[in-house]
Amino acid sequence: MTTAGVSVAAAIRAVLCERDVRSKVMNARKVARDWRLGRLAFAFDVAMPEAPGRPDAPELLLPARMPKRGKGSEHGRVALWHALAHIEFVAIDLALDMAGRFGAGMGEAFVSDFLSVAADEAMHFALLDRHLRAHGSHYGALPAHDGLWSAADDTRHDVAARLAVVPMVLEARGLDVTPAAIDRVRAAGDERGARILERILDDEIRHVRFGANHFDAAAKRLGEEPGNLWKSLVFRYFRGNLKPPFNDSARLMAGLSRELYSALA
Ligand SMILES: [Fe+2]
Ligand SMILES: [Fe+2]
Repeated sequence: MTTAGVSVAAAIRAVLCERDVRSKVMNARKVARDWRLGRLAFAFDVAMPEAPGRPDAPELLLPARMPKRGKGSEHGRVALWHALAHIEFVAIDLALDMAGRFGAGMGEAFVSDFLSVAADEAMHFALLDRHLRAHGSHYGALPAHDGLWSAADDTRHDVAARLAVVPMVLEARGLDVTPAAIDRVRAAGDERGARILERILDDEIRHVRFGANHFDAAAKRLGEEPGNLWKSLVFRYFRGNLKPPFNDSARLMAGLSRELYSALA
């Protein structure tokens, strides 16, 4: 995979810096494809940006300033899809930053895994944005929550901390809450929306598993017992408790044992 001229880091950096929504989504998928096809060199000659490029809309608000969603109304439904689209949009950058910032030390398989995650997140975003448009809205029409990138920023110096918090806490939380969301959306008659969420849930199990596998490898390299290291990093970098109920079966498929996360609930 090291024959081409452009470095994978430069290609990733360009997508991270991209501010246009459509370009970021298309180019995230392109960089994953180019890497898979051997068109990018395993080389890390540029640093990742401190913060990714963001479009002018949505307006980003502190979590406490986000308007309430008004469950059950059409506006509440649009607000839910918009919030989910925003999570996926930020997830593109989280996966790209993982590969570009830590790939040099973690190796080619790590880059392959997290670029495939970035491509999945771009697809999730595209599905949700299309669904929003079917509801007469679009990504950027409402304000969005500004808290998601902070987990990446807090762990920018430490791959084990990043893996412990982003895939193994935040994405794992998605496994817990998505089945109930699927039921609610289906009960409201939105079968297409329910199918989108089912696909996302399937993919997210794989994302958490990539995180857990590479975390184990990182812990072993440090000579640490993975469970103990995970608990200490989550305690230090994740502000807030892990909230039950947990989706134990999905978590188990993703390689997270109940014994591990129940200790932090
Ligand atoms: Fe996703
Ligand atoms: Fe994900």
